[in-house]
Amino acid sequence: MKKIIILFSGTGTNLLNLIEKLHGRELEVAAAITNRPDAGGIAKARVKGIHVDIIDHKDFESRETFDGVLVDKIKSYPYDLVVMAGFMRILTPHFTDNIRAINLHPSLLPKFKGAQAIERSFESSDKEGGVSVHWVSGELDGGEVVAQESFVKAAGESIESFSEKIRRIEYDLLPRTIVELLKGTTKNDE
Ligand code: GRF
Repeated sequence: MKKIIILFSGTGTNLLNLIEKLHGRELEVAAAITNRPDAGGIAKARVKGIHVDIIDHKDFESRETFDGVLVDKIKSYPYDLVVMAGFMRILTPHFTDNIRAINLHPSLLPKFKGAQAIERSFESSDKEGGVSVHWVSGELDGGEVVAQESFVKAAGESIESFSEKIRRIEYDLLPRTIVELLKGTTKNDE
């Protein structure tokens, strides 16, 4: 069975969704790794029997030293793909040159790279919102897009409703894209 490693920083609802939809079925989640000791996703993963490593970025004096330990930890596991699901770190070339990873981003890239993507996309005059899965590269949210799904903003829509649509797409698009990538049926040429 193919193996993935999931990186996360926060509540981990995408992490949980991946575990519930894929682990032991389509693939094995070899481990989950977080940079935040208080991340809600830690308990969600452990309850499902997934091993979680905590590497607190505050224990490191530079991004490079943190990335060095993160890369070594990832490489200590057998894995086919690294998946970032809400992993809130700017990565150095040490990471991006050594690890083949995809990232989930809540906008139609190349629009709204970086933080607050949902809010910025909601407040823009764009008629559509959406979700992207892309290869991780040296440019923040700038690697090649693997999969994207959009939806039309409803008239007078609230940010809550807009965010909910994004979540629903995320919970479908990310697992689907991972399975397709591991089968080699989608853009796998990064
Ligand atoms: C998701 O919206 C993802 O697109 C973004 O961070 C959020 C993570 O949410 N990169 P969760 O921790 O999976 O609930």
